[in-house]
Amino acid sequence: IEEINFVNEPVLNYDLGSTERTELEAELVNIKNGIIDIPVIIGGKEIRTGNKGLCILPHNKNKVIGEFHKAGKKEIEMAIEEALNAKEKWEKLPWQSRIAIFLRAAELAAGPWRAKLNASTMLTQSKTYKQAEIDSACELVDFFRNNAVCLQQIYSEQPLSTKKVWNKTEYRPLEGFIFAVSPFNFTSIACNLPSAPAIAGNTVLWKPASNTVYTSYVIYKLFQEAGLPDGVINFIPGNAGEISDTVLSNKNLSGIHFTGSTKVFQNMWTAIGNNIYNYKTFPRLVGETGGKNYIIVHNSANINSASRGLIDGAFEYQGQKCSAASRAYIAKSVWSEVKENILEKAANIKFGDIEEIDTFMGAVIDKKSFDTIKNYIEYAKNSKDAEIIFGGNCDDKIGYFVEPTIIVTSDPHFKTMEEEIFGPVMTIYVYEDEKFSDMLSLVDSTSNYGLTGAIFAKDRYAIEQAQKALVYTAGNFYINDRPTGAVVGQQPFGGSRLSGTNDKAGSKINLMRWISPKVTKETL
Ligand code: ALA
Repeated sequence: IEEINFVNEPVLNYDLGSTERTELEAELVNIKNGIIDIPVIIGGKEIRTGNKGLCILPHNKNKVIGEFHKAGKKEIEMAIEEALNAKEKWEKLPWQSRIAIFLRAAELAAGPWRAKLNASTMLTQSKTYKQAEIDSACELVDFFRNNAVCLQQIYSEQPLSTKKVWNKTEYRPLEGFIFAVSPFNFTSIACNLPSAPAIAGNTVLWKPASNTVYTSYVIYKLFQEAGLPDGVINFIPGNAGEISDTVLSNKNLSGIHFTGSTKVFQNMWTAIGNNIYNYKTFPRLVGETGGKNYIIVHNSANINSASRGLIDGAFEYQGQKCSAASRAYIAKSVWSEVKENILEKAANIKFGDIEEIDTFMGAVIDKKSFDTIKNYIEYAKNSKDAEIIFGGNCDDKIGYFVEPTIIVTSDPHFKTMEEEIFGPVMTIYVYEDEKFSDMLSLVDSTSNYGLTGAIFAKDRYAIEQAQKALVYTAGNFYINDRPTGAVVGQQPFGGSRLSGTNDKAGSKINLMRWISPKVTKETL
């Protein structure tokens, strides 16, 4: 079998008059002009339960572009049955055939489906052209292709044999069904959560985030167009708690592929623990959860690139990337220069209409998120230990808009230095240059999460010292770059501590979690 080569999907520019821009603009109009009715899809059958939710735009909260039907207990039980039925044929399909379906999906997503995926991502997540392109076009396609390459490598590995003993490994999927639960903030991650177990021969119940059911439905249609058989992935939007109760208590649950909040993942883990004597097999729990990601600016840093990293790391996609920087530690001797530079860059941020090509930030996802972020900003406004040096205004008259906000605090344990906010708010603590080591210990001891982190420095000794002191504070660590924007195949992504199980999305590590190898020894 010939090796499939993996190359990252190139990012398109969307210059005025380009084909990609024209197609995307047409799709934006198309989506806004309609209201689609989104069913639950089980075993390929569309089910309309009549218990409906709305698909709205975060930046234009009264605009409805779709309605979706919610799955209830009856539909979940039906979906489990269909997934188990579909698995009988799906797992027996030659793996090359399974891979072919996902490689076909990659071709469709990179080509004729690109505009539709990007337009629905922009509208349902309030993403800019650029943020949509790197997510729902490039990263989504990269996950498909990279999974195919990794799986091919896994399947080709066989144990040693001798003249007298013939050994072989069969790479079986897990026994049972997988529950995939996806977040609102990345279309690519939402797509990978059901895809990675499925490509390895599992069948899946996929619960998409309620805010972005529209985009997940587009992905579902893409799977169908690529030839994914009915029942392999079952689409079950609905109430998370209700769905989880039925799924997690089912004896055939064999794994969870989750991206979302730490709390929800902990609750799922607890529910599984409470049910542990009922399962046929130990469910595998794979989760990417919260973060409180940091940037350190050493006094040897290039000030302009550190400032760029602070602004992009904190405010791209409104700070709603799980990897976004939300706290920073800056050396006192360079603080005034950094401050001037970030204030200038923050003032140049174009904020508002995501359909204008040079807009940098749109709205946050929904009212709940808006209120949470606003409360943190209010807390800082009312505190004697903090000063808001940029932004701080929130306006939800039309959509859920929160200004890029920079807080400076004299207290390294200030609430916004330690709690996850998931919005465009960065808190800065200025440390004494000679207390670099103490500052590193502080970062380590305040990192309950361990997702991403970054240091800007030229001094190699400082870089080494930071890496040694911050071992478990980040699953993805960046030197002289912002802590966001991991590229599939280049920086496999995931964190530890309260940030998840660190099973690196888009890598062999992740795919192995959906495989249960069987080794056979034959004496000759
Ligand atoms: N994988 C995404 C990033 O690195 C979350 O920004």
